[in-house]
Amino acid sequence: MSSTEDMISAMHDGLAEVSKEAGTKIPVPEAYLKATKHHLKDVQEYLDLYKKSLESPDTFWTEMSKEMLSWHQLWTGKTFEHNFDVRKGKVYSEWFKGGKLNACYNALDRHVENGHGSQIAFYCEGNDLSDDHRTVTYAEMLDQVKRLASALKKRGVRKGDVVAIYLPNIPELPISMLACARIGAIHNVVFGGFSAEALAGRILDAQCRVIITCDGVMRGNKVIELKALADAAEELVYERGDGHLVDRQIVFKRLGEDKCPVGMKPKRDEWWHEVLARADPECPVEWMDAEDPLFVLYTSGSTGKPKGLVHTTAGYILYAAVTHKYAFNYHENDVFFCTADCGWITGHSYVVYGPLLNRATSVIFEGVPTYPDASRLWQICEKYKVNQMYTAPTLIRSLMRAGDKYVSKVPRDSLRVLGTVGEPINPEAWNWFFNVGGDKRCPVVDTWWQTETGGHMIIPPPVKDFQMKPGAASFPFFGIEPVVLNEKGEELSKPCEGFLCIKRSWPGIHRTVLNDHERMEQVYFSTFKGYYMSGDGCRVDEDGYYWLTGRVDDVINVSGHRIGTAEVESSLVSHPYVAEAAVVPMPHDIKGQGIYAYVTLRDGFEPSEELRKELRQTVRVEIGAIATPDVIHWAPALPKTRSGKIMRRILRKIAEKGTQVSSEELGDISTLAEPQVVAQLIELYGK
Ligand code: WT7
Repeated sequence: MSSTEDMISAMHDGLAEVSKEAGTKIPVPEAYLKATKHHLKDVQEYLDLYKKSLESPDTFWTEMSKEMLSWHQLWTGKTFEHNFDVRKGKVYSEWFKGGKLNACYNALDRHVENGHGSQIAFYCEGNDLSDDHRTVTYAEMLDQVKRLASALKKRGVRKGDVVAIYLPNIPELPISMLACARIGAIHNVVFGGFSAEALAGRILDAQCRVIITCDGVMRGNKVIELKALADAAEELVYERGDGHLVDRQIVFKRLGEDKCPVGMKPKRDEWWHEVLARADPECPVEWMDAEDPLFVLYTSGSTGKPKGLVHTTAGYILYAAVTHKYAFNYHENDVFFCTADCGWITGHSYVVYGPLLNRATSVIFEGVPTYPDASRLWQICEKYKVNQMYTAPTLIRSLMRAGDKYVSKVPRDSLRVLGTVGEPINPEAWNWFFNVGGDKRCPVVDTWWQTETGGHMIIPPPVKDFQMKPGAASFPFFGIEPVVLNEKGEELSKPCEGFLCIKRSWPGIHRTVLNDHERMEQVYFSTFKGYYMSGDGCRVDEDGYYWLTGRVDDVINVSGHRIGTAEVESSLVSHPYVAEAAVVPMPHDIKGQGIYAYVTLRDGFEPSEELRKELRQTVRVEIGAIATPDVIHWAPALPKTRSGKIMRRILRKIAEKGTQVSSEELGDISTLAEPQVVAQLIELYGK
């Protein structure tokens, strides 16, 4: 974690944007209020429920959990218990402990048992417009899930084992996740855009023996050979893993031999369709404890390797379902569309669990939202009559840049709610999304949350009498008690700005870091004792609205995806010519933040364009395309304090302002071991 000084300077970077716009208020549109039913009468009812959720959390969450979930057996002890204070012992959260249920049963079986088997669970939209566009009903989902689950069992997967899933955004991905959940195995989904190296790291850390993948996938015009990448990852695992072996690989045929020929390794590799055809179509549900792990999902931090965040069964699914229902005002028969890939938490909670638990019909989209052109997303909305669309600011900005004509030529009458997530949405993008995308008819729900939180934490409730403020995530969700702390850890009252922390447990919080509970306590609970530290800065205005100002640690948010600076740095340093590297965020028009890398070469090596390319390629191969540095800045040396700590504050300013950076912006540089380094770096900007 960065020093408090660094954290404060990072926080202030984000405040300018917020202050500019804080005045505007836009009421939730009348047309939307008339167009649909509402779970909540008005903003007062939202606030009343919120109050109840904090004053009587036991009653509130007990009622919610009985209404939203089917329990095999209710818990008998306390509804929840937690400790957020490291001084009082181990940090933990337990919700509904002792209760028994199954996530897959809740997502599929009960709907089929209740006669909804023929309802469409997913409209599957492929990459190409000419692709076959499948639909999958709840009954079909359940059939596939049961077959895969019994096949996994037959291949030795037991309750508590971790299964790696490396698939594109096709229904086989949720099917694989739910098959794991059905038999009590823990799913570990690795985003299909990650490299073999990244996959290997996650397989090893979680000790996965089984992996589910596919031959390949089209991304725009390119074939991505997932099976080949998975094979390479397995080689790496074998080399490093002290005898650990992936001995089973189930391969879905997505592209076929013509487009993507693959080699199948005898004994290890099997085709999905053959496995499922032979599998026992029946597979009983494993009744899990509420606190049994449901999945692990890796995410980057400011230091070290990605952390495997562990989410447990009841709390997570309840929270995903409740947030999905209220944040999007989701109703039966609505068509929901979250554009995220299931490889991220947004896909876990709002493509898979939230919608399926609420028996929604949703769209799962395999492709790129700007392919073949910038009207694709709107065309999908029109084609399936989507009512709620949930996407990311980076995408909104790229559609905005392409021009209004791509939107206006497509009718979008079915749309009622627009959602965003991933990074603070700049007011310009917000206004465009609201005015052009939603024709001023749809509230924009800017949801702030994290992989760690399981579901939405701060939202603008789409209810009557609520005044939206473009760029403000707005109000805490039910059960969430946010606080803003100053650097001394004191709670501030509104209006204020500081570190966004959460004061008490909620059902969706992750329970631990896989194999490293201490790291979890260290990262989230050690800076401010007694609070969950989000790593984000925020401002609360006079009206009590929360405005997120961005990360205060060394995490870079690229297109709404978290990239750890340490990971990129260690990848750069793995190149034999590189002596040292420091990576900081830079402003980026479309991606929100880009990756800016300062690189110091070893004696005897000279900068060149070729080396730049090589370094970018190194990161791409080791982590994935998404982590590739946008800029490589040759640095004769890095600005360090006398104790050897890199002053990232200065590096961030130069990355942002280049040769225009003023001495006020650079701040005090007298504490540097070699202050002249700063002038040298500015001199080399852009070279
Ligand atoms: C970080 C979490 C949660 C799913 C997507 C990313 C930033 C996310 C917002 C928002 C401002 C946001 C934060 C957060 N973030 N949503 N609406 N407004 N910032 O998940 O990879 O866990 O990243 O994304 O900085 O800490 P993630």
